[in-house]
Amino acid sequence: MAALGGGGRAVTLLRRGLVLGPAPRRYRYKKKWAATAPRVPSTRLALQSFDMNYGLQLKEAWPSVRVSLLCEQKYGALVNSFADADRVAQELELLNAVDFISGAAQKAQRLQQDSAVEQAGRGSASREAPGERWAVKQAETPPLLSAPITSNIRCYTFPRGDITRFRPARPDTLGILNYYLMDAASLLPVLALNVQPDDFVLDLCAAPGGKTLAILQTGFCGHLAANDVSISRTKRLHQILNSYVPKQIRETVCVTSWDGRNWGELEGGTFHKVLVDVPCTTDRHSVMEEDNNIFNRRRSKERQMLPMLQLQLLVKSSLRSLKKRFLRKLLLWRWKCPCDA
Ligand SMILES: C[S@@+](CC[C@H](N)C(=O)[O-])C[C@H]1O[C@@H](n2cnc3c(N)ncnc32)[C@H](O)[C@@H]1O
Repeated sequence: MAALGGGGRAVTLLRRGLVLGPAPRRYRYKKKWAATAPRVPSTRLALQSFDMNYGLQLKEAWPSVRVSLLCEQKYGALVNSFADADRVAQELELLNAVDFISGAAQKAQRLQQDSAVEQAGRGSASREAPGERWAVKQAETPPLLSAPITSNIRCYTFPRGDITRFRPARPDTLGILNYYLMDAASLLPVLALNVQPDDFVLDLCAAPGGKTLAILQTGFCGHLAANDVSISRTKRLHQILNSYVPKQIRETVCVTSWDGRNWGELEGGTFHKVLVDVPCTTDRHSVMEEDNNIFNRRRSKERQMLPMLQLQLLVKSSLRSLKKRFLRKLLLWRWKCPCDA
């Protein structure tokens, strides 16, 4: 100790351990890199993942899809046929909103007519009877695409470029709300379902219930089963049914909270049509909100398991829940699907 020099003071310091010894416990700290490194927000992780995946899949369409994902959502107003639907439709038309479903139906009809004329023209050049090839073509077209669009569903949107917002829905004299605000694209699977009179329909992942409500708007369901594994979200589904559907119709809907993966074993071979709106990465929510974001690092396992869950819901349950006749039709259609060509 004396070799350090500095006399008695240095010796005292050394004795107290202030010069060479370890710092007193209260001054010691441990570097915690994980805690102190800036966290990447889940919304940014979501956007990075979409840039990588959708960029590859959608190619040049991705930038415009990306912009719309990051913009404020534009809603459609699904007219409630259980309220005074004609009056509601008139009011919406006065606001300059248009029913995109009837518009699309007219467009589809025009396209079909044009295509029929074209096919007949080509057919007459060959030895086939005029229109014969068109008939064959129609028979080959998947039923989901050739089906007429269910006219009972009306959904109004403001034209492109018009960013007016719909006012919140209002109740009629019986307390039934006049329209339901939803992403207009969410109606497409319901239209593709092409519900026919007395069909038994299963909505396997139904909550909060926008598509369940749209299925009921067709007025065709013989029986509707609406299921969702989440009890809290099933409560929202009940609230929507209470606000939009009269009691006598509401009571015909069977609402359950089962794990949809087991449905095929519970009620196999029962339904004509099954809608499976599988849990997904909720893209718009994921790029906009930190709360309950599936791209949060703590939820990565759940996110990685999503494709497996989706597959199980689709294959293990939904296909098994279909009546055999409809399953055969679906498989046959898949086998001949023109998009494979
Ligand atoms: C995309 S949302 C459905 C939205 C709904 N179809 C609508 O139009 O309002 C997916 C739903 O799947 C549900 N879900 C997740 N796992 C499920 C499972 N194993 N069985 C049934 N439902 C499940 C979630 O609770 C969630 O409500």
